[in-house]
Parts: sequence; structure tokens; C-alpha cells
Amino acid sequence: MKTNILSIMDTENETENIIDLGISLKQAIRRGKMLNYLPHKTLAMLFERASTRTRVSFEVGMTLLGGHALFLNKEDIKIGERESVEDIALVLSRYVDVIMYRALKKEDLHELARHATVPVINGLDVDEHPCQILADLMTIKEHKETLQGLEFVFVGDGNDNLTHSYMLGCTMVGMNVTVISHKNHWPSERFVKKANEIAKKQKVTITITDDLAAVQGADVVATDTWISLWYEKQRAQIMADLKGYTVTKDVMSKAKKDAIFMHCMPIYYGEEVVKEVAHGPQSVIIDEAENRMWAQMALLIKVLRPDVSPKMIT
Ligand code: CP
Ligand code: NVA
Repeated sequence: MKTNILSIMDTENETENIIDLGISLKQAIRRGKMLNYLPHKTLAMLFERASTRTRVSFEVGMTLLGGHALFLNKEDIKIGERESVEDIALVLSRYVDVIMYRALKKEDLHELARHATVPVINGLDVDEHPCQILADLMTIKEHKETLQGLEFVFVGDGNDNLTHSYMLGCTMVGMNVTVISHKNHWPSERFVKKANEIAKKQKVTITITDDLAAVQGADVVATDTWISLWYEKQRAQIMADLKGYTVTKDVMSKAKKDAIFMHCMPIYYGEEVVKEVAHGPQSVIIDEAENRMWAQMALLIKVLRPDVSPKMIT
């Protein structure tokens, strides 16, 4: 049966295995190993929004695994405009082995996944960014050696695709999550409910607050742009509400001394974070960007070659 990865929840009990596979791939390929696990496999990448990291990391990742990636932007295929999402899903499935889709409309992503006969991976939608969260968990594991029991604190726009994915993904692997944001921008109820269910099972906690003092004790401090594309019309209000939630050196000083700073990028300096933190000694943002590639290579192997495990890669 094909596996769609539309949410980090779709990785189920395999989340940490995927991260470990990503770490193994990174180490082995850096040692000069050739890991052609996906020869003659093709990934179609459908983009309805701009991208640097998602596009390049998927494309290079497929090349490193002996496969090929095909870039199709909004103008190339005009999903749902020139022809239906269903027809595109059915036709692409006869040419390619897996599809990555960054959709403007979440319904289109789900429609494509429903009709495609090959796996579909979410390359970011209004509510979630599963590929980013895999890369971020991989980065945290590299820097902290373990994930279980860590304190993850997100500061900024709580009603954001990244925040939702962090709440789900971090609790799935046993981390405590705190979201600090203005009350008008707390995470969507749907995701809070789901994350609380996971947290209960994993015996970890979810805290949502408007109090910046909650950064205290953080092992990881993360933020993201305040204005996601889908919320551009509300720019003025969001900027006014979130003023005061910028991650500054002062905010970082409340976290543990060895806390790391994360941001999925692109960054809007002086808004969600200041440059001296984003490129300061605690920042791991460039590792995080690099790990998009390794984590996604692991994910592609997981959906196309489930027989490959981290232990096989030495
Ligand atoms: N973080 C991220 O998804 O970056 P891009 O939008 O550049 O792909
Ligand atoms: N939350 C951001 C993520 C960008 C990768 C956005 O949706 O624009």
C-alpha cells in the first residue's frame, strides 16, 4: 500500500527511525559512500509557491540516491485550472514514482493524494510542514544526542504551519512543547487537541502562553516568519500583535545556557528574530537547512524502499 506523508502524524511510529536513517545517510555519504537506493526512480515536485530549500534539497537528494527529480511550477501545469487535480494525479502516477506538492490550497493537496497511485508528500501547506519538522528533529538529535525529555519552546506566530507541526512532531518523539505567542495568534484548536492527545500518550506536556518568561529552561528555542503567505492580508494586525515577541539576545538568555536556536528560513530580520541571534553562537539554522536534504532522502527511502533501515548503512 502506498504511504502519503501529508502530516508529520503520517510517519507514525517511524518518526525517529526516519531521523536516524537521515543521520546515517549523512555520515555515510560524507565518508564518500555511494548509496544508490533509488535508481531509475523519479520524483515530481509541484510548486505553487516559491521555494529555495524544499526544491533544492529534494532535487539534490534524489540525485544522491541515484534517482531524478522533475520541477513543475504553477505556470507549467496550472493544477485545477488547465485540468483537474484528479486527472493530474492519475497521469503523473503513470510517469513518476513519488510526488511532492507545495499547494496553495490544502484541498488540492488532499485531492491529489487521494487520486495518485504513488506516494504524495506535503511540501508545506497552510497548516503543516512535515518535511521541515523531520529535518528539525534530526538537527536537534545531532546537537543534543537525544530527543526524549527535551524542552522545546516556540516563540512567535502560534497559528503557523511550523508551530502546528512542532506541536505534533515534538510530542510524538517525547519532547515537552511550549508555544509563546500573543493570544490572538495561538495555535489552531484542532492541532492543540491532537497534540494534547499525543502528549498524554507520550507523558509529555503542551503549554500555550503569552508570557515570554516561559522561555526559561528551554533546550531549543524556535521561531518562524510572522507572516505566512496565506496571512499576508492580515500583515498590519499580526505585526502589531506580535511586536514584543522578537527572539532577541535577552530572550535567549532566559533559556538554558546550551540552548540552540532554530528557524526554518527564510528569515525576516528584526521581526521574528534579530540577526545576532539568527547567526549567533547558539544558532543551528544552517545545519537545519542542510538536514532538509538528509531527512527527506530518508523519507523518500521510507516510502519507496521500506526494506532499508539505518542499521544497513555503515
Ligand atoms: N523552510 C522552507 O521550507 O524553505 P523554502 O520555502 O525555501 O523551501
Ligand atoms: N510559515 C512559513 C514557512 C515558510 C517555509 C510560511 O508558510 O510562509
